[in-house]
Amino acid sequence: MGQTKVLAHRGYSAKAPENTMAAFRLAAEAGADGLELDVHLSKDGEVVVIHDETVKRTTGKKGKVTNLTLEEIRRLDAGSWLHDHFAGEPIPTLDEVLSLTADKGLWINIELKNNKIRYPGLEQAVLERVDRYGMAERTIISSFNHYSLRTIHELRPEMDTAILYMADLFEPWQYARHVGVSSLHPYWPTVREETVYGCQQAGLPVRPFTVNRQQEMRRLLQLSVEAIITDHVTVLLEERRAT
Ligand code: G3P
Ligand code: CA
Repeated sequence: MGQTKVLAHRGYSAKAPENTMAAFRLAAEAGADGLELDVHLSKDGEVVVIHDETVKRTTGKKGKVTNLTLEEIRRLDAGSWLHDHFAGEPIPTLDEVLSLTADKGLWINIELKNNKIRYPGLEQAVLERVDRYGMAERTIISSFNHYSLRTIHELRPEMDTAILYMADLFEPWQYARHVGVSSLHPYWPTVREETVYGCQQAGLPVRPFTVNRQQEMRRLLQLSVEAIITDHVTVLLEERRAT
């Protein structure tokens, strides 16, 4: 088993505006092994990187991603809300982030944000783009929408798919097998030693989110989880070095 990977949650979001190229580049420079990000579909079918289904929180403008064209989305400023230093940072496309991860040899965890809103064709659009950048071997597709993961699995059985979940599931590896996914992304407080062990025995990697407390980082590193998703890339890298 290799060392636990460090996945930068929405990029290095402790230091730069979440889900922007500034945050992804900073994570790469800091030494993260991979990037976690969230995707939605624009009105004209582009895969764009943003957490919420509306642009309000991160750009100050009104509107649902699904009602805006890529051109309209690209005009928005997704950086100023954090600091003037990041003024003008656009909402990236998935293509831009895939290009960075392909170039830097990073992993990418693409979270499909289709649990509150349905995006017909999102699964195919994401797979097409992953292939375009030759990233299939270093991609994990996760979602709280487990039907969507089932669709990905049917379209591409070899793709690493991960269930996201908040509940303290009983024997989660059994459920993961039932869905047909290959890994598990649990909310960190639910992670028990016995569930990590059960998943490891079943050959299913566990990657808890979003782990920002050092004590919890240490506990999960000791359990040899396959990866940890964090906002604090450097802190986790230091904890890993010390373990
Ligand atoms: O992928 C793990 C984590 O990102 C899920 O929660 O709300 O930060 O997308 P959220
Ligand atoms: Ca996410």
